[in-house]
Amino acid sequence: MTPESSPFFPGRTVPVESFVGRTREIERLRSMVRGASTGRFWIGFVTGERGIGKSSLAGFVRWLTEQEQRAVGCHVSLGGVSDLGGMLNTTFDRLLKDSIERTWHGQVRDFLGDHVRKVGLFGATLELNLRSEEVATLERTFVHSVRQLLNRIAEHRSLFLILDDINGLADSSRFANWLKSVVDEITLSQDRTRLCILMVGLEERRRQLIEHQPSLARVFELIDIAPWSDEEVYEFYDKSFSSGEATVSEDDLRLMVLWTGGLPVLAHEIGDAIWRTAQTTTIRRQEIAAGIQLAAQVIGGKFLEPQIIGAMRSGRYLSILHEITDMPMQFTRAEALKRLSQDDKEVFDHFLRRMKKLGGLESVPGIRGGYRFPNLLHLLYFKMVFQSWPGSSS
Ligand SMILES: Nc1ncnc2c1ncn2[C@@H]1O[C@H](COP(=O)(O)OP(=O)(O)O)[C@@H](O)[C@H]1O
Ligand SMILES: [Mg+2]
Repeated sequence: MTPESSPFFPGRTVPVESFVGRTREIERLRSMVRGASTGRFWIGFVTGERGIGKSSLAGFVRWLTEQEQRAVGCHVSLGGVSDLGGMLNTTFDRLLKDSIERTWHGQVRDFLGDHVRKVGLFGATLELNLRSEEVATLERTFVHSVRQLLNRIAEHRSLFLILDDINGLADSSRFANWLKSVVDEITLSQDRTRLCILMVGLEERRRQLIEHQPSLARVFELIDIAPWSDEEVYEFYDKSFSSGEATVSEDDLRLMVLWTGGLPVLAHEIGDAIWRTAQTTTIRRQEIAAGIQLAAQVIGGKFLEPQIIGAMRSGRYLSILHEITDMPMQFTRAEALKRLSQDDKEVFDHFLRRMKKLGGLESVPGIRGGYRFPNLLHLLYFKMVFQSWPGSSS
């Protein structure tokens, strides 16, 4: 069927009506934003594997709290930003852009004053233009500036600031120290600051930040996102295929669920590949098996380093990979050896060294001979390539 008609959104933020699960996390974040609107400052950290749905959750809660609490949302992606000045510039620029078509646009624009300029064809886009000394001032007066902005915006509204993809920033001790000083200034002050900050990033990034500024460990409300449960993945597929008016038998749906490992990014890629493989809206098992294979190719190309794929395809390693992808995400050398044939045992140490070097496996600190896949995505991808689809032989 055509890609345009696909009810899946690989690589894109999911529209709110297709959002599935995460009820507890939504509830927690929602009450943090509600607390902020009464002057209780919150700072949260959403962590979880790549592709687990961190950005989507943050985006969904932003939409929800804008609707029901009239929160002022700003979702800034800091992927390419590595210093504090860049972060402030990007954040206020995003605040301006996100406010377009929102009721608080006028207030944000007034607040930013002469620093806003019109760019693009016919001046269709707005951009924030701050000189470096102004960014430096903003660094020192951040809390004061946020309060001033909030004073312009109606009472009982909070600013929900989502700092997403903080990869580059996590290694900046200047950013870590600044963040701590912002938290201190807000919590020690008599004045209320209707602000909720939500940082979003991998667990390694949170640890990195804490290494730079250990007292940050205590300030973050931690929201760790787990894989979807089987029921949630089932609901996701059921909802998506129904919205595309396609039918899949219940047994086939249950099998598909297993391949996703609860990782939303995989659920979308697999769903989309099956959609493209299927001839008609009555989707058959063979089409699902072919779709899974197509999905594995797409995922390999999008998310994995070509060297790993090359090394894995080497004939010597196929049966080793078949065995270890059938084990838990973390295993020891001794456990793996028990499952291997004599031939495989002979090349196993070489295999481990090679995979480690390429980043397909890593050592587990503190466990002798302990190895693990760097993330769930790698393991699930390897499984898709090396385990046979239960329906493929039928
Ligand atoms: N709760 C959800 N419901 C439906 N799709 C989701 C959900 N969470 C994530 N996705 C989808 O999974 C993919 C990865 O999500 P994303 O939020 O980008 O993950 P992360 O930020 O953790 O890397 C996206 O295509 C997104 O649309
Ligand atoms: Mg993300």
